[in-house]
Formats: sequence, C-alpha cells, structure tokens
Amino acid sequence: MKWGFVASLGLLAPVNALLRFPCAQLVIDRRDPLVNPGSAPSPHIHQILGGNAFNTTMDPSKDIPAEATCTSCEFSEDFSNYWTAILYFKAKNGTYKRVTQLPNAGFNGVNGGMTVYYMQDGLYNFQQTSKVTAFKPGFRMYIGDVNARTKSQAERFRQLTFTCLQNIGTRDPQILDFPSTPCPGGIMTAVRFPTCWDGVNLDSPDHMAHMAYPESGTFETGGPCPASHPVRMPQLFYEVIWDTRPFNNKDDWPEDGSQPFVWSFGDGTGYANHGDYIFGWKDDSLQRAMDSPCYVSCPTLKTQSAEAMNKCTVDRVVKEEIDDWVTTLPGGHVASYRK
Ligand SMILES: *[C@@H]1O[C@H](CO)[C@@H](O)[C@H](O)[C@H]1NC(C)=O
Ligand SMILES: *[C@@H]1O[C@H](CO)[C@@H](O)[C@H](O)[C@H]1NC(C)=O
Repeated sequence: MKWGFVASLGLLAPVNALLRFPCAQLVIDRRDPLVNPGSAPSPHIHQILGGNAFNTTMDPSKDIPAEATCTSCEFSEDFSNYWTAILYFKAKNGTYKRVTQLPNAGFNGVNGGMTVYYMQDGLYNFQQTSKVTAFKPGFRMYIGDVNARTKSQAERFRQLTFTCLQNIGTRDPQILDFPSTPCPGGIMTAVRFPTCWDGVNLDSPDHMAHMAYPESGTFETGGPCPASHPVRMPQLFYEVIWDTRPFNNKDDWPEDGSQPFVWSFGDGTGYANHGDYIFGWKDDSLQRAMDSPCYVSCPTLKTQSAEAMNKCTVDRVVKEEIDDWVTTLPGGHVASYRK
C-alpha cells in the first residue's frame, strides 16, 4: 500500500512534518458553534469530530484542551473540532437516506469520521522542507459557500473537490461537483483550507477574511502568501469517504440521467462543499509536531487506538431521525438539482 511504502523509504527522510491521521465521529448533530453559535438546531446537520469540549456555543476564550477530557482523533493531544455537512441519497419516491462514512486506507476500525492532514508542502513531497506557523488558541475558520450552485461560484475556492472512487486508493480526477455515475468505491470529498493568515485576527465575520490563498498557484505549488496575509500556516485538509456503494444500482437513480446525492442543506449540485475548523491542540503540540521530521507516522505526538477514538463521543442535542428514510432533510431542506 502506498503509505506503508513511503514510510519505508529511508532515502526520502523528511525535514519537517506532514501529519495524516483519522478522527472518528464525535456526534452527528444539527449544531454549528462557528457559523450559528447558540443555535440548536442550526440550519443543517453536520458530522463533527475531535475533542469533547464541542458545544452549541464555543467562546473563543474557552480553554478547549483544558475542558476536553477525550478526543475522537488519533493524536490524543488534538482537541480541535472538525466538521462538514453530511450526504443523503434521494430515492425515486422522493425520500432520503443518510449516507454513512467509510474509514480511509490504513484506518480500519475507525467509526465514520474523516482523515485530517496538516502539511508544510504538497502531499507527495516526502521531505516537507518548508516552514509553517501553527494555528493559535482561539483560531477558527470556515471555507466554502453554502449557497454556491454553479461551477463559477465554486471556482472562487481552490480545491474543494469530489473524487469518484474506483477503489480506496483512487485520488484523481478531482471535480467540483457530484460524480455523474455510480462510484464502485464510494465518493471522497476533500476540503482544503486557505493557508495564508493576516497575522492578527483569530476569526473574522465571514470566518474566511482573516485567511487567504497564496498570491499565485496553490499551497502545493509553493505559491507565496500575499502581503495582506503574510503568515504561512499549515495546509489543513479533510478527506471524507462516503459509502455510496449501497446506492449504486442505476435502476434506483433518476430516469433523466442526473445523480441522486444531495448535501444535508439541499445542494444537489455539490458546488456548496464546505468545512469548519476550531483549533484546539494542547499547548504547543501542533507547532512542535510540525517542526519535527516525520511523514504520516509522527512519534513526537501521543497516539491512541481506534477503540479509544470511537469511545469519545458527545450526546446529540437535537433529537431527530437520522438513520431511517425521511421525507425532508433535517431542518426541512429539500434537494435542488441542476436545472
Ligand atoms: C455545553 O454547554 C452547556 C451550557 O453552557 C453546559 O451545561 C454543558 O455542560 C456543555 N457541554 C460540554 C460537553 O461542555
Ligand atoms: C422509498 O424508496 C426506498 C428505496 O427504494 C424504500 O426503501 C422506501 O421504503 C420507500 N418509501 C416509501 C414510503 O415508499
């Protein structure tokens, strides 16, 4: 397998770190302390991962690592919270069923969740020679546009993508909307956050303006940060694998040739892929890890078993049906597809 192979190549000794680790599901709930603090229910339902200090409201002055007693992530000093919307399948009779998640390659036994990366350079740069400044306590951000329904609206963001998995190792091509044909290995969605910080604000009104993309190219091509946002931070990157395999029978798909999947807020195009982040690493553990030579397997960090990760959960606050067939998406959303 690719990752084991890479780790055994002593020739490519890393200079700094690339972290790649699984986080199990903490809770599926209609809460969003970043975009809709105080609202339970928030407008749409999410899958949330990370530390159990997660709550409906999370004041930026909250000492997250001090309040949390466990995390659903493999690195046990990471009490951050990571979340995305969830996916549904829309049947021909108009009802919806939630699509569950699969663990990524190498992470069997982890319940749902996603794979999280913190990188200094591109994914397949095994040396990771660049320098990054880790996020600070109180830092949070969002990327994407819940209202995007066209390709040009989605292109405002770099690298919010879908991959139609032929198998668990498929990574290309990456597209900006839902795959148009059944995917034998499920659908992977990826969320890459901007990497250039203004150096001052831990958040901003739209939760994006304190961050920017590189001035040219991408993080992975080494593009420089713009003068307005000069501080180069890690590339935070989520991979989520949706187990669409139970819904791959073409006879169950719409007769007009369109695809049947929909985000939990009603987007049937896929262009509104988005993600949320609240930093919560203990002390300087993230900076320390980023400054230590390691690729994927990082001995400077404490790790825990899949069993311990799966055990860290919080109670769902908004009680509603999430596993049965439902006539509307939680919050009353209905799917809207491309005209
Ligand atoms: C969430 O906030 C409520 C209200 O402040 C509090 O009672 C509860 O203990 C908090 N839960 C967690 C997991 O921190
Ligand atoms: C709608 O279709 C799904 C998938 O075929 C099926 O499982 C479900 O029972 C149907 N619901 C109703 C109300 O007919």
